[in-house]
Amino acid sequence: MKTQVGIIGGGPSGLLLSQLLHLRGIDTVVLEKHSRDYVLGRIRAGVLEHGFAALMREAQVGERMDREGQIHEGFYIAHDGIRERVDLKTLTGNTVIVYGQTELTRDLYDGRDRVGGIVIHEAEDVRPHDVVGPRPFITYRRGGEAVRVDCDYVIGCDGYHGVSRRSIPGDRIREFERVYPFGWLGVLSRTEPVSPELIYAKHERGVARFSRRSPTPSRNKKQVPLSDSVDDWSDEAFFDELRRRLPGDVAAAMITGSSIEKSIAPLRSFVAEPMRYGNLFLAGDAAHIVPPTGARGLNSAASDIHYLYHALADHYTKGDDAGLEAYSRRALARVWKGQRFSWWMTTLLHRFPEDSPFDRRLQDTELAYLFSSQRALASLAENYVGLPF
Ligand code: APR
Ligand code: PHB
Repeated sequence: MKTQVGIIGGGPSGLLLSQLLHLRGIDTVVLEKHSRDYVLGRIRAGVLEHGFAALMREAQVGERMDREGQIHEGFYIAHDGIRERVDLKTLTGNTVIVYGQTELTRDLYDGRDRVGGIVIHEAEDVRPHDVVGPRPFITYRRGGEAVRVDCDYVIGCDGYHGVSRRSIPGDRIREFERVYPFGWLGVLSRTEPVSPELIYAKHERGVARFSRRSPTPSRNKKQVPLSDSVDDWSDEAFFDELRRRLPGDVAAAMITGSSIEKSIAPLRSFVAEPMRYGNLFLAGDAAHIVPPTGARGLNSAASDIHYLYHALADHYTKGDDAGLEAYSRRALARVWKGQRFSWWMTTLLHRFPEDSPFDRRLQDTELAYLFSSQRALASLAENYVGLPF
């Protein structure tokens, strides 16, 4: 097979890039390890900044997002039995859109189908080759058949566990990482949401987060020790504990139901530099991971795709490689700001087992300062709605 841009990974990053390039007349092939049903069965983030939404519209897949996604003008931080609102709209003039990543991925697949885009599922043993030379290629197997895809560029959109980053020699890439000593237990349930807006609750027993999804499911989460497993938490035990950590009025109003999905995600911050090796470019989770606290995961992928899309379009339509040359530097500058914010918000709200009484007082004071200063709140808000690309 031959294509211009070979994309490894059919998650949001890979699909969005291939759709955007296709609409500019650039040929792509997406190689995805899993089946479409498997990819669409994953439940992940749900808060989109408007920069991401704009890319979805440009990719002609934003219609359902605009119809069913909910504009959120603020969110709450609860602590010590009260809740305080972060008014994103007033502080920044901007808002976020709550729309599940699963739905967004479905829209991207539908978009790819509509224009006849090539997405190869269940591609086994995908490997990039000769990416430092002028003729890179990708190999994979499917149903016992070995296939080779010749391309100009290989784009690694294959997530944290993918093959692209790992194919780069160790002395050509540097990894920065922080692993947090806890995880988030997430429960998706078809229950009426108790609050129209997201609530992050800081509590001495650990963080709890309530968020809603369009159309109905509620997505609730709470901090648990990494030693816990999903089996340790019945639906009942989860909701009891969630109630304990949410402010009284919210807890009292909460109607609980049975879960649709339950999982524990460890919290991790991770960045790989640079995001380019020869003609292999990394984007999204393949190059960086954030803890979910600041809702930056998907939104950090969006800026990578924005830079890469324009860089590749400039290369093919104008013969201009400046964007490709600048990609890693530009993408990393924004990625690190997302890292800083996610780390800050995680540190602000979580109970760290190793914290001393002094550390806890500082944490309480950070929160008290935040809600006593419009400038401090504005800084939180501008990061939450997304810094410019
Ligand atoms: N070969 C082919 N495909 C692969 C391989 C491989 N060796 N390894 C992984 N993949 C596929 C995965 O099955 C997955 O569908 O690559 C895709 C990567 O998708 P994501 O992990 O969703 O990463 P990305 O598209 O960058 O999405 C950004 O933002 O909110 C966060 O983590 C959240 O998934 C989200 C991410
Ligand atoms: C989500 O809806 O899954 C979500 C919301 C807010 C976050 C992280 C994840 O900070």
